[in-house]
Amino acid sequence: MKVVLASDHGGFELASEIEAFLKERGIEVDNIGCGCPDSVDYSDYGIPAAEKVAEGEYDRGIVICGTGIGMSIAANKVRGIRCALVHDVYTARVTREHNDSNVLAMGARVIGVDLAKEIVKTWIGGQFEGGRHARRIEKVMDYESNEN
Ligand code: RB5
Repeated sequence: MKVVLASDHGGFELASEIEAFLKERGIEVDNIGCGCPDSVDYSDYGIPAAEKVAEGEYDRGIVICGTGIGMSIAANKVRGIRCALVHDVYTARVTREHNDSNVLAMGARVIGVDLAKEIVKTWIGGQFEGGRHARRIEKVMDYESNEN
């Protein structure tokens, strides 16, 4: 599995922790920034990361800002992206099982590093259940592709 990681200044420290955590677990990960505390716009990092997942360059994306909200809004504007904003292990698991989320958003000012690692571990390992959930996703993706 190849993962693209992106953050703004509010999330760059957690992003580097998550990058190291994924590498330790043998998961290929590219951190596309921002990588420093200077104020940047989350959209400049979240949208390119989401595009790389949508285009198939990466299997999954993880985007981190202060709250996770800006990053999740930005990522979900990219066609084909289902970005889940997650701050607990339960929804990390269920968003993979039910929503087949391909991007995970987290807020570095909301949760601690250890919980974020647990969330990432759970989300990376989670399996989509298909069935009725696939039908529901299809309806959302159809809506998106019809450009209503
Ligand atoms: C930056 O201060 C902050 O607004 C950003 O990291 C994020 O929380 C936006 O949703």
